[in-house]
Amino acid sequence: MKIVIANDHAAVDLKMEIKEYIESLGHEVINIGTDSDESCNYPEYGEKAANMVSAGVVDLGVLICGTGVGISLAANKVKGIRCGVCSDTATARLIRAHNDANMISFGARIVGAELAKDIVKAFLDTEFMGGRHATRVAMISDIENRQ
Ligand code: RB5
Repeated sequence: MKIVIANDHAAVDLKMEIKEYIESLGHEVINIGTDSDESCNYPEYGEKAANMVSAGVVDLGVLICGTGVGISLAANKVKGIRCGVCSDTATARLIRAHNDANMISFGARIVGAELAKDIVKAFLDTEFMGGRHATRVAMISDIENRQ
């Protein structure tokens, strides 16, 4: 798959480790930064990555900031984006299986590198189950379309 990865200044080191890890799993990774420790604004990176997912330029997206929350909030403002913040592998698996999440987010100040790798692998290895879950995901899209 083609995966976009984005982060703010709080997550540069973890981003590089996760980027290499995703590549080692056989996926193509597009890194849109930041690659600098200089303070920046996570909404810019969340929006840019989310636009790539929404436009179908990539299959899925991985976002990292200090907590994972700010950058996911920004991404979820983009139409068609379903991004979940995960600090465990079960949630990472279930947001794909049940919620058809197309982006995942986690915090560099919250999870260690090994757990982050397991979280990303669980997310990338899981497929959407469809069925009754598709009805619920469609209801989420309806909310978006009514705004
Ligand atoms: C940056 O200091 C920090 O606020 C950001 O990385 C993130 O945690 C926001 O949600």
